[in-house]
Amino acid sequence: MIQELTSAINGLKPEEQLKYLSEKFAGRIAFSTSFGQEDQVITDLILRNDIPIEVFTLDTGRMFPETYKVWARTNETYKKNIKAYFPDFNSTEKLLNEKGPFSFYDSIDNRKECCRIRKVEPLARALKNIDLWITGLRAEQSITRTDLQFFEHDENHNTIKFNPLKDWTLQQVLEYINKNNVPYNSLHDKGFLSIGCEPCTRAVKEGEDIRAGRWWWEDPEKKECGLHVK
Ligand code: ADX
Ligand code: SF4
Repeated sequence: MIQELTSAINGLKPEEQLKYLSEKFAGRIAFSTSFGQEDQVITDLILRNDIPIEVFTLDTGRMFPETYKVWARTNETYKKNIKAYFPDFNSTEKLLNEKGPFSFYDSIDNRKECCRIRKVEPLARALKNIDLWITGLRAEQSITRTDLQFFEHDENHNTIKFNPLKDWTLQQVLEYINKNNVPYNSLHDKGFLSIGCEPCTRAVKEGEDIRAGRWWWEDPEKKECGLHVK
């Protein structure tokens, strides 16, 4: 299947690839957005071209105000509502009551627990009936992503993952956004490259790694939140 899909999209433009896949996986295809610059490119490709692919976000409840603003601007620009998945309130209340609002700084286990409740469980619900999951991952983003493929099996979610921007450089992403007037998160103008939850993301300095501002207190080899597990 992976091989068949890889040859089928070979030579097609990104919007043609998405269109092809939307027909092949009709009703079983979705794109997850965190409203970062890569994701805004894919949202634009899907919504501008009216391609029938569900666009959803995992609202962790801890996102930056700027992220909620670009979410609203995206809904307005394309006249569509991005679908939201929210953490289970019982697990979230239990976590807050037992460990307080900043447990993730105390240990990697606590950090993973919070990511599990706020992102991983909602993602599992979002992908329940989905066979083709599209993401904005790029190979150059991190040492954990260098061997990224266009299509990958995701055994955790029983889906195939498609990473259309796998080989794009940051420069290409920025050029696409400028050229097509795509709404983007204003934090990107303030030194934020990769944007996640507010307490777990900081701006990066010139020359620092793209994802250096995510969970900056942790070892780079371990910095995946559980959404993209191999
Ligand atoms: S993360 O695993 O470290 O959080 P990253 O921020 O690099 O991931 O984003 C990689 C891809 O994961 C995005 O392009 C998007 O497809 C998906 N993703 C990450 N966070 C979210 C979120 N909160 N909601 C929906 N999708 C997300
Ligand atoms: Fe919790 Fe931080 Fe993970 Fe967001 S990134 S879910 S706040 S640990």
